[in-house]
Amino acid sequence: MPTDIVVLAAGKGTRMNSSLAKVLHPLAGEPMIHHVIKTAQRLEPRHIAVVIGHQGADVRAALAAQNDSGNLIWVEQEQQLGTGHAVKLAKDHLPDDGAMLVLYGDVPLITEDTIRACEDAAHQGQLGLVVAEFNDPAELGRIIRDDTGAVQEIVEFKDATPEQRQISEINSGILAAPLKNMAQWLGRLQSNNVQQEYYLTDIIAMAVQDGVDVVPIQASSEVEVTGVNDRVQLAQLERHAQKRLVEQLMLDGASFADPARVDIRGQVRVGKDCFIDANVLLTGEVELSDGVRIGPGCVVSDSRIGAGTEVLANTVVDGADVGPDCSLGPFARVRPGSVLGTGVKIGNFVETKKTRLGDHSKASHLAYLGDAEIGSEVNIGAGTVTCNYDGVNKHPTNIGDGAFIGTNSTLVAPLNIAAKAFVAAGSALTKDVAAEQLAVGRSRQRNIDGWSAPTKDSEN
Ligand code: UD1
Ligand code: CA
Repeated sequence: MPTDIVVLAAGKGTRMNSSLAKVLHPLAGEPMIHHVIKTAQRLEPRHIAVVIGHQGADVRAALAAQNDSGNLIWVEQEQQLGTGHAVKLAKDHLPDDGAMLVLYGDVPLITEDTIRACEDAAHQGQLGLVVAEFNDPAELGRIIRDDTGAVQEIVEFKDATPEQRQISEINSGILAAPLKNMAQWLGRLQSNNVQQEYYLTDIIAMAVQDGVDVVPIQASSEVEVTGVNDRVQLAQLERHAQKRLVEQLMLDGASFADPARVDIRGQVRVGKDCFIDANVLLTGEVELSDGVRIGPGCVVSDSRIGAGTEVLANTVVDGADVGPDCSLGPFARVRPGSVLGTGVKIGNFVETKKTRLGDHSKASHLAYLGDAEIGSEVNIGAGTVTCNYDGVNKHPTNIGDGAFIGTNSTLVAPLNIAAKAFVAAGSALTKDVAAEQLAVGRSRQRNIDGWSAPTKDSEN
């Protein structure tokens, strides 16, 4: 039986005090609603109908990238007349067979297992309802059960009696049922309640009336059904999201100096026996092969790092493809387009950008290498700078295998330095150097005899 998923995301999010739509606030580096859509897509639903209202255009634009399977449908809810109204609008955009599952754009940590259990109930002609015991149920809807323990209805906090408010079992809002039943129940909703809204929750009592089984599904934790209303709650969920991500990487074979002091904002893959030290930030698509070690305070973004490579403290690696057995840092900056072979060393205060270094080449200290093609076994001395920019255009530098670039060399691009060339320390090069040539690009040293150093003027 096909399933259609409805994701509610039309609300204003007043308590975020933000000009950014609530569901677009980032959690683990991605808009909150991305997490919901990602989890929803794992069920391979027929459609995902996203109900948008406030800042709907922004939400729509942010989800464009998640519509690979082309199954997203947009439902505009101009006036937020309640959760029941929102789902009813969505229903009008969906076929009338199959099952419907309702999720929330601001409940980002819901798990696949839980929504699958909910979906299963709907596939069996029942109403699956995700519930949870909350320590502080605050203003959430309360689950009312009869003497036998069967769920009878949901009472919204604002409509609840003092006795009902004592109940600690709450409605997560997440539910699923056959579409034909949903359509029928949604058509019967009324807004004669304290908030004058169409409550989705009223369909529970209707199901009971119609003899449809209401199956309560216990959420595995409060966290997975916690909705975000303000930035304090968002920050709490962030910690939980981080914990989940880090735990998965540990199960995949990585060790962390302190799992609570690392942040993951993207898709990270690790090989066996990686080690990640404290205060590391991994963002975007990051792939660490077996045995990679990341030192404290490093930031690694959108990069691949080869087996056995060590990234030492406070190094920033962004958009790089790093080979195996390299050593980067401490305090290095490896920028986009850096491609490093095997056993390359990039030492402290070295910056690389759009630069390729072949196997076993070294730039051990203080250098800038931009727009350069550097062969293997090349030694780049401290203070080497590729002058790749003339103020208007960028120019390339090519350095052949086995070349030696002496300390404090200024390489004015475009420039070719052939294999095994040797550049004397302190050279400013503007002309190509052929293979095995020595290039000396500095003024000759003069030693002047009889020099007497200046003495201090007595008047001042
Ligand atoms: C709802 C439930 C409550 C449950 C709680 C869990 C109802 C009537 N109540 O209450 O039982 O404990 O969620 O968090 O369903 N939305 C729309 N359009 C609307 C109204 C809401 O898209 O017209 C969206 C909101 O953006 C939000 C979600 O639906 O993402 C929940 O709405 P909200 O008003 O926060 O419902 P609650 O009053 O918290
Ligand atoms: Ca809410």
